[in-house]
Amino acid sequence: MTTPPPPAGIAGPSTARQYNAHQDGKSAYEEDRAVARRLRDLGLDTKLMADQNRAFVLRAVDHTARDLGIDQVLDIGCGLPADSGPNVHTLVEEVHPDARIVYVDHDPLVRLHADALLHGHTATTTFVEADLRDPDAILDAAHQALDFSRPIGLLLGAVAHFIRDEEQPHALVSQLVDALPPGSALVLSHATDDYAPQVIRRAEALLADVGVQSRARSRTTIEQFFTGLHLVEPGLVPVHQWRQPDAEIAAVPPSEVHEYGAVAIKPAPAGESDAELLGDRAYLSSRQEEGVLIVTVSGMVEDREHPPLRDRLNALVDESTKDVVLDLQGVTFLVPAGLGFVLGLRLELEEDGRRLHLLGGEPVHKLLRITGAKVPLHDDLAQALAAAQGKRWRR
Ligand SMILES: C[S@@+](CC[C@H](N)C(=O)[O-])C[C@H]1O[C@@H](n2cnc3c(N)ncnc32)[C@H](O)[C@@H]1O
Repeated sequence: MTTPPPPAGIAGPSTARQYNAHQDGKSAYEEDRAVARRLRDLGLDTKLMADQNRAFVLRAVDHTARDLGIDQVLDIGCGLPADSGPNVHTLVEEVHPDARIVYVDHDPLVRLHADALLHGHTATTTFVEADLRDPDAILDAAHQALDFSRPIGLLLGAVAHFIRDEEQPHALVSQLVDALPPGSALVLSHATDDYAPQVIRRAEALLADVGVQSRARSRTTIEQFFTGLHLVEPGLVPVHQWRQPDAEIAAVPPSEVHEYGAVAIKPAPAGESDAELLGDRAYLSSRQEEGVLIVTVSGMVEDREHPPLRDRLNALVDESTKDVVLDLQGVTFLVPAGLGFVLGLRLELEEDGRRLHLLGGEPVHKLLRITGAKVPLHDDLAQALAAAQGKRWRR
């Protein structure tokens, strides 16, 4: 049996403090700076590596919040609060003021800093001291703070490489992803040994000497964390090249950064219901209830018009004579103007003297704001049905 790595502790080795040392941060101890110097002596530019990983995490979170409309984040291995630059909760709150964030880390020092940072902050951002190797405990805590019926962003920034092969990192991540609803996103970055395996093995040995277990992995092995998910463009790439707006940084050789990252979306389960698959990843089911046609769309809509979905919706609407309730609670729009097919439907119904009622959360609300369209948006099905039937809604 192998000896388990020591738990992170305020006095013991801490990858959170070491990461801070790589970034020339204020919270590291002298022993962490010494580790950073020894890694640099091996030829690793640990400042570049840490800075580019952090920048990837922030770009990816911005993408999930802004473009995918995700307003709940489970950030595991969140690290110490940033000395400079935004923290995850502030970034998401810029887009979604009522965002819910659960930070998780196994290091008690991170908890101390998080308690201080979040003191007086809204109760919608919380910190849980837990270990990635115990997903049950993480999920129990997350269920208390997040709404698991709506998409959640699972953030695993530079943490899965601290899980040894025998601890089954892929199974741990799968268990977390399996618990998330469709439309959720996995953001993951991970150290790689693709570019300089010998140097990376020496770095791992050096870290093991100071009590830190780590395992850089190949791109193929890292890609397996995303099995069953839909990778958003540009897929799994060196972190500094992922949607990098700065051409100079994008041109840095990946052999200087040694880290891959990606964002992927959890699709609706195929074949689980009587929903029809339209296009690659959108699902549609429909039923009549008290004269109202209720259409449920889930999965992903990746373009503005989505012809298969538009055509199917038009056919259904033509067959019905009543108002339509379109339930968009389980769908992710990959482009901000992805509601194009809905707006086309609205015009068609209005021409016919009928109304379209939408059911969807803040992402749909936001898309309507962007497009400027006036479509009644409801919180739940009973409310939408009552409105479609012309009844007054009483709670
Ligand atoms: C390199 S830092 C990354 C911080 C942040 N996620 C980022 O990408 O900017 C790794 C963090 O993961 C935490 N960590 C390492 N192993 C962990 C585990 N098994 N469970 C929970 N957190 C862990 C460390 O305490 C540290 O805060």
